[in-house]
Amino acid sequence: MKYIVLFSLLVAGFYSLSVSGLHLSNLSPVCLRCICHASSNCNMTIGCYGGRCGPLQISRQYWKDAGRYVLPEDNPNRDGAFLDCAEDHSCATQILKHYIIAHGKDCNHDGITDCDDYAMLHFNLKSDCTVPIDATNFGLRYSTCRPTASLDDDDDII
Ligand SMILES: *[C@@H]1O[C@H](CO)[C@@H](O)[C@H](O)[C@H]1NC(C)=O
Repeated sequence: MKYIVLFSLLVAGFYSLSVSGLHLSNLSPVCLRCICHASSNCNMTIGCYGGRCGPLQISRQYWKDAGRYVLPEDNPNRDGAFLDCAEDHSCATQILKHYIIAHGKDCNHDGITDCDDYAMLHFNLKSDCTVPIDATNFGLRYSTCRPTASLDDDDDII
């Protein structure tokens, strides 16, 4: 029993370290809000357009590539599990976080992996996140709320 508890603690510790340390250190609430704004003006009732659903406009393939996150107590094999999560703001945010954990990288090759890269990844998807987004509607909306470098520093301190 003691070993099971110890093992669980180790796993939990490793998980939180990898989540906060590796790709997510710059994934602040400001960044999450901005990606939501860029995706749909963060419209909770937007529904699906061209197979992309909810305030973050997430496709079923994106959801699969993020590990098929679902609402608490739901089953990823249930019809509608994807849609119900994608249309729920906090559940959709978890899909985004898991997508970034799995596929996040320095998309714009500026030497740091931050919100600009997560926005590029979210829009371009994992196959090639390096395409500039500046001229897209998504990118234009993102530019109005993107965290600045100094705000990122503040987030780290808080
Ligand atoms: C959200 O999207 C729906 C569907 O496109 C639209 O009817 C509604 O006006 C939008 N709401 C806001 C606040 O933009």
